[in-house]
Amino acid sequence: MSRLPVTLALTATVLAAAGCATRPAHEHAHQHSPIALSADQEQDTAGPVLAAASLTPTQGKEVRGLVLFREMDAQHVMVHARVIGLKPNAEHGFHLHENGQCASPDGTSAGGHFNPAKAAHGPQVAEHHAGDMPNLKADGNGVADQKFIIQGVSLSPGPTSIDARSVIVHADPDDFRSQPAGNAGARLACAVVAIQ
Ligand code: CU
Ligand code: ZN
Repeated sequence: MSRLPVTLALTATVLAAAGCATRPAHEHAHQHSPIALSADQEQDTAGPVLAAASLTPTQGKEVRGLVLFREMDAQHVMVHARVIGLKPNAEHGFHLHENGQCASPDGTSAGGHFNPAKAAHGPQVAEHHAGDMPNLKADGNGVADQKFIIQGVSLSPGPTSIDARSVIVHADPDDFRSQPAGNAGARLACAVVAIQ
């Protein structure tokens, strides 16, 4: 249980960020650093078991959030995503992308879906890219808070490791059929995944 305090601290930061969403006038006064960990916390999380990705908006967008990853076994990772600034009551495509690069204004520097197995795009229950995750479902305030398990990825070194890959939030829902990316539209936010 030594890793639990880190998770709680990260969650608390995003909860604070969610509070900002209801007060847009104050948004720019906040500079959130949700994945800054103390030295003690880093020691607590030694080993390839926990990763985090801090979502920042692409140019002209307002989507922010934090995604935590916990390795369940060699092929399964638990994902906890808290995202704000989404279109209320809408679904948004949500993927791990190949490149851990969010520098481009439109997020295209993240590349295509993370796909080490050279599979087709699809839902978790069928053939899918390792980076294909369930859609984010925003509530009436544009906030999504979801936990799910994804298959075909790991936090341990190797071809399926998501360390230094990226997370993208899209404007539209992933239809889980269209190739190669589910027709999910523009990239609203990007984050680089980092093992903690
Ligand atoms: Cu994507
Ligand atoms: Zn895909």
